[in-house]
Amino acid sequence: MDSRNTHLQRKCYGHYDGAVAQVSQAIAPVIPLDRRASAPLHRQIYEGFRAAIVRNELRARQRVPSSRELASELGVSRIPVLNAYAQLLAEGYFESCVGAGTYISAALPDLLVPDRPSALPTPGSPSGLRPISRRSALFPRFEPSARHGKLGAFGVHQPAFDHFPFGLWSKLVLRHSRSPRVTVIHRIDPMGHEPLREAICEYLRTARAVQCDPGQVMIVSGSQQALDLCARVLFDPGSPVWIEEPGYWLARNAFLGAGCTLVPVPVDREGIDVAAGIKLSRKARAAHVTPSHQYPLGVTMSASRRMQLLNWAQRAGSWILEDDYDSEYRYESQPVASLQGLDQNARVIYIGTFSKVLFPSLRLGYLVCPRDLTERFAAVRFSTDIFPPYLNQAVLSDFMREGHFARHIRRMRLLYKERRTALVESLGKELGSVLEIHGREAGMHLAVTLPDRFQDAEICKRAEAKGLWLWPLSPSYFTAPARQGFILGFGSTTSAEVSHAVHRLREVMGT
Ligand SMILES: Cc1ncc(COP(=O)(O)O)c(C=O)c1O
Repeated sequence: MDSRNTHLQRKCYGHYDGAVAQVSQAIAPVIPLDRRASAPLHRQIYEGFRAAIVRNELRARQRVPSSRELASELGVSRIPVLNAYAQLLAEGYFESCVGAGTYISAALPDLLVPDRPSALPTPGSPSGLRPISRRSALFPRFEPSARHGKLGAFGVHQPAFDHFPFGLWSKLVLRHSRSPRVTVIHRIDPMGHEPLREAICEYLRTARAVQCDPGQVMIVSGSQQALDLCARVLFDPGSPVWIEEPGYWLARNAFLGAGCTLVPVPVDREGIDVAAGIKLSRKARAAHVTPSHQYPLGVTMSASRRMQLLNWAQRAGSWILEDDYDSEYRYESQPVASLQGLDQNARVIYIGTFSKVLFPSLRLGYLVCPRDLTERFAAVRFSTDIFPPYLNQAVLSDFMREGHFARHIRRMRLLYKERRTALVESLGKELGSVLEIHGREAGMHLAVTLPDRFQDAEICKRAEAKGLWLWPLSPSYFTAPARQGFILGFGSTTSAEVSHAVHRLREVMGT
């Protein structure tokens, strides 16, 4: 700022100390300058800022460009800009903070509050006809619940964040962002980064007995995108699709959004009840299943059910979407081979994710599609989001190739086993007579079911009020919930925290 304004500069306020670091970089508002207008340029600049503040386009504490930057952007000399800034400072629209620049004032002058608020139209307020597509209306409402994104004792999709090797990860990020080869950052492939596809393919063949080559592996932004792509490639509006009951609500959402008719098929101690599914809808277009560790009940699908499911799919000409979301962690036995690996007829689309094994906001996963479908999957992918972002793929491919992935899984398996055991023991001690535990053999969560006198949603509300974020079981049912209970994540709950958390659970249950 010009020295004429120094008397208007203030020392940074206490509240600014934190805020300054967070304000966005200075971006100039749109100021239409008319050199033939009778109003001088400094007045037009002044009016431009004032109008942008009144319209709320510029907000309190937002940084404004330096006079030099704005003059260059508007193609004028600095003089009119300096004059306009001096006026805006004098009238209290701007304030400047020594060493940190000029900002829209935190306390704007009274004249900005209109006498008759209704006289000013609220910018952007919806009016008139506003049609939206029938297709978008098929998706269930987006209602973020209080517990989403909350960290806490029983958080369901929370790995042990503090055990992830972020130091190593950041070195790999640096390696790939410092001087990437142009050929790599320019490449466009809807299937994803080839070295990562090769690394995933090797991992899946070895650890999950998946039959694949890298040409069948598509990198996706988490399982959710894989489910959406499957729905786009395989389903038509009205296609009947078997879903597990209870099951994964976000898979349901993807299929509902594609206009499918959901066919809830009960899950018993062996997994999805194939005979019941055949009775309900013999010719369903597909079945969505979580055979390694059923979500949410944690059942492992038995060998005979696997064979029944594959036989049904072949006879009916149907697809199987195998969602192998947390197969990396089994505690009591060897990993169970994938359904895809048993399939002789290329009927299975295999889906996996790094959300659980690395961290959820990475948004990276994969699907393995039958060879004859790769062209359709690539075509749909290319026309929707073209291809996945490069950097994290390159980092993850090195993370896998250099052995860090396998090491991380081995370490986490031991840690989660210990956490799981602590949770099971604690539940047994405090609530053993009330609840039944399901699915403790694998994964990062277990399910507990309650006698009918308990209402899980009510208990969760009471728990929320006390800062305990519990996931009720009942919303996992598409139809009327057959059982009440909770889904209890243990990935980020240390063994030391668990007994306190279970004690609080007992308190909110009132037992
Ligand atoms: C059954 C199931 N599939 C997939 C996922 C992961 O989805 P995404 O990869 O979209 O984070 C979850 C939750 O973590 C899940 O419960």
